[in-house]
Amino acid sequence: MQTRTLGRSGYQVSEIGLGCWQLGNDFGEVEDAQAVQALETALEMGINFFDTADVYGGGLSEERIGRWLKNLSAKPLVATKVGRGSGLFPDGYSKQKVRESLQGSARRLGVEALDLAQLHCVPPEVLMSGELLGWMEELKQEGLIRAYGASVEMLDEALFCCDYPGLTSVQIIFNLLRQDAADRLLQKAADNQVGVIVRLPLASGLLSGRMHKDQQFSDQDHRSYNRDGQAFHVGETFNGLPYQKGIELVEDMRSLLPKDTDMAQLALRWILDHPQVSTVIAGSAKAGQIRNNAGAAALEPLTDRLHGQLNAFYVEKVRQHIRGGI
Ligand SMILES: NC(=O)c1ccc[n+]([C@@H]2O[C@H](COP(=O)([O-])OP(=O)(O)OC[C@H]3O[C@@H](n4cnc5c(N)ncnc54)[C@H](OP(=O)(O)O)[C@@H]3O)[C@@H](O)[C@H]2O)c1
Repeated sequence: MQTRTLGRSGYQVSEIGLGCWQLGNDFGEVEDAQAVQALETALEMGINFFDTADVYGGGLSEERIGRWLKNLSAKPLVATKVGRGSGLFPDGYSKQKVRESLQGSARRLGVEALDLAQLHCVPPEVLMSGELLGWMEELKQEGLIRAYGASVEMLDEALFCCDYPGLTSVQIIFNLLRQDAADRLLQKAADNQVGVIVRLPLASGLLSGRMHKDQQFSDQDHRSYNRDGQAFHVGETFNGLPYQKGIELVEDMRSLLPKDTDMAQLALRWILDHPQVSTVIAGSAKAGQIRNNAGAAALEPLTDRLHGQLNAFYVEKVRQHIRGGI
């Protein structure tokens, strides 16, 4: 597994990382043993970057990672988030509450200082007031966090963050079904030494190519309870696409893909073909999926012709269906 540099932190992060929202049981129930197997598999595949949050499973994802880390001599990098729990969201932000939230994450992860703490989709007006970023800088000086970044919904928020001098990374949605960051953000991030962490690389699984129109998701899966934005931002689950439309679009796109390709790997390779991307946090709690996703890093880049076709498909057929803005 090759690594890339994560912005000005200098961290060397694996091209494919592991998204650990699944370890909080927010995509269906995951047993402890399965969670450990997922983490172990990722490490075996060369993954050294794990993304979690205080609110995933109410701390369960962090706890599972923390218990697992305890027995490792060489520790991988763990990025967590702050800003949606601990009475902070949407308007209860104070430096002390942010500090306490981060201290809780450090406790659950069993570390003294957090490798990377990301603001977690805080309201745009709160983010852009700059106050929270200022507190993160101060908490870095205090030694509670080694680096900080911001996970955002909109490209304008990411662009704003790129101008913040101490920021290590932005986390954005970027995939075959949401391509705008390629033109609007990636070069600015690279020019400003800001790392780009890509989430939802498979559009919540749509881009695995194995979902079908009658698929059922359990009640605790956000693909059920937030399918149309009922619980949080409508642009998040399924990339903001109405589910049936997403299925149709992926079927339509299939005709462009080389025969016998694994769609999930191709979708991940497409993202990695953008050199300004630092790491792609494909989410999974399943060992087979994690192995498969890690394999994308070893594939040859896609041809320029295929990149062109996939971009034209996106512009002509996909973009207008994304809800919640880009
Ligand atoms: N606001 C934020 O900061 C935020 C929001 C969302 C996500 N994230 C982070 O980003 C990570 C990735 O996003 P995500 O997990 O929401 O979306 P994703 O990576 O696009 O999709 C994950 C889902 O795709 C399916 N999948 C994964 N690999 C597969 C494979 N090889 N073959 C077939 N299916 C596969 C799995 O579905 P099944 O479970 O059905 O098998 C998995 O749960 C999360 O884990 C989390 O760490 C952050």
